[in-house]
Amino acid sequence: MTDDSPRKVLVAVAWPYAQGPLHLGHLAGANLPADIYARFRRSIGDDVIMVSGSDVHGTPITVKADELGVAPEAVAAKYHDEFVEAWDALDIQWDLYTTTGTEIHTRVAQEFFLTLLENGYLYPKSTLQFYDEQEGRFLPDRYVEGTCPHCGYHEARGDQCDNCGRTLDPTDLVNPLSKFSRTPPVLRETEHYYWRLSEFEEPLLEWLESREGWRPHVQNFAIGMVRDGLQDRSFTRDLDWGIPLPVDDLGPGKSIYVWWEAVMGYLSAPQEWAERRGTPDAWRAWWENPDAESYYFLGKDNVPFHAIYWPALIMGHGGLNLPTDVPANQFLTFGGAKASKSRGVGRPLSWYLDHFDTDGLRYAIAQSLPETSDADLSDDEVVRAINEELVATWGNLVNRVVSMTGRYFDGVIPEPGDLGPSDERALDGRMAMLDDVRSELMAVRLRSAIARAMQGAQETNAYLNEMEPWKTAKTDRERTATTLWVALQSVAATAVALAPYLPGSSRKVLEALGVDVPEDGPTWQVPDLQSGTTLGALGPLFAKVEIDLDEE
Ligand code: MF3
Ligand code: ZN
Repeated sequence: MTDDSPRKVLVAVAWPYAQGPLHLGHLAGANLPADIYARFRRSIGDDVIMVSGSDVHGTPITVKADELGVAPEAVAAKYHDEFVEAWDALDIQWDLYTTTGTEIHTRVAQEFFLTLLENGYLYPKSTLQFYDEQEGRFLPDRYVEGTCPHCGYHEARGDQCDNCGRTLDPTDLVNPLSKFSRTPPVLRETEHYYWRLSEFEEPLLEWLESREGWRPHVQNFAIGMVRDGLQDRSFTRDLDWGIPLPVDDLGPGKSIYVWWEAVMGYLSAPQEWAERRGTPDAWRAWWENPDAESYYFLGKDNVPFHAIYWPALIMGHGGLNLPTDVPANQFLTFGGAKASKSRGVGRPLSWYLDHFDTDGLRYAIAQSLPETSDADLSDDEVVRAINEELVATWGNLVNRVVSMTGRYFDGVIPEPGDLGPSDERALDGRMAMLDDVRSELMAVRLRSAIARAMQGAQETNAYLNEMEPWKTAKTDRERTATTLWVALQSVAATAVALAPYLPGSSRKVLEALGVDVPEDGPTWQVPDLQSGTTLGALGPLFAKVEIDLDEE
């Protein structure tokens, strides 16, 4: 396969728990970078499927349902609907956004279980688990809280410590307390399927160490965790809100651990997608064809699941592709505090959607993506990025060029005269910009890619300042025509480069310039603007944000 032929690209996005409102952290960590990357790969002609869904099982959902006194189904449905609305409002272009509550997901997860069992990676084992005697029930995962044995954080939960990011078992916690009775739980015997994760230490290490181009924080964290040693993990839980085991030797009341089945959504969602479009086997081209690529977008707290556990599950299953890359993001903080749905820090996404345009918000987040280290995005910074960068540089450039074309050429793209060195430089610069942005995007360096595209807009602004078409308009019509023609070409190329980030406004710009934009988004090439085309109407692209943050 040559470098230019279309690739099958799976863009896999972490599945948010349907148990609380979304925050900018979800967007910055997973959904927005995934959408930008998927849109880019589509624009260069690749065959992309971007999938995710709401994670509706496990104790995150039942704990919330208990708190509200409603059924877990009701919690999951409410937040799933909210998520779908948010993705629409944010222009996230899914091939499928589903849930783990579908029949097909249950089938795929149960088949996966049976394959692992058959391959010898699951075995039944009797263990001691926490039990609340007052409630008369086992306490899996989030039903136990206590102190993290690794970092000493006091509010660690039985499945994970939010402070140091380590995954835990409830019995790892120091001073454990039952979420129900707030009393120390007792240990009681129960039977579970265990997963021979320890057997994957060596193959995982070899695989992780041989990855090239991964973000160092992801690769190093994963390698470190595997080097520390991997223990066999319980594959099942004493919980009935989840996917039932496809074998009945453990008796009732057991389900597959939510994390192990949730990651299998990356396999079930493409199957659901294929089924819905009437080509039930189409998913295989993304999963079984070794030339296919897969990129997983998630926040760093999910790195163990995507860079270690899911790859180990895939190895244990056989015949499926390992991740090409796991470009996980670090945390986005908001004036210092980490956005976390479960801890309720930060404003909900809906607040941002009420106060900012879609593309404005996408821009503000994209320019501060926490790709290599934690990044802070205060509300002031959102406003600054929109007003001082997006509106002042890009919005202003588009308005200048379009309105001068209106004023001096009746809104018709003029015929250029002979090109001088500055014109040539501007046209070459536009090609160099597209090439640079493309290679940054290819390497999933989305933050530097958008900075490079904005630099292109600045260069065009500088070109206009040098050529001063508003002056030459009075003296030299041909010179003015050439300048505006060059500037329009540059604007069009910049709109192509920005389209993965700013899909709505980039489409508007390109269509106003007479470029045919396919439904999926523009094609990655220098658009060929036709002299003589009448520009379409284009109001101000982005509104300057004027809100008093102190009042909010
Ligand atoms: N629901 C998990 C969370 O919100 C993420 C699950 S990602 C998946 O942290 F791949 F496992 F689905
Ligand atoms: Zn910890």
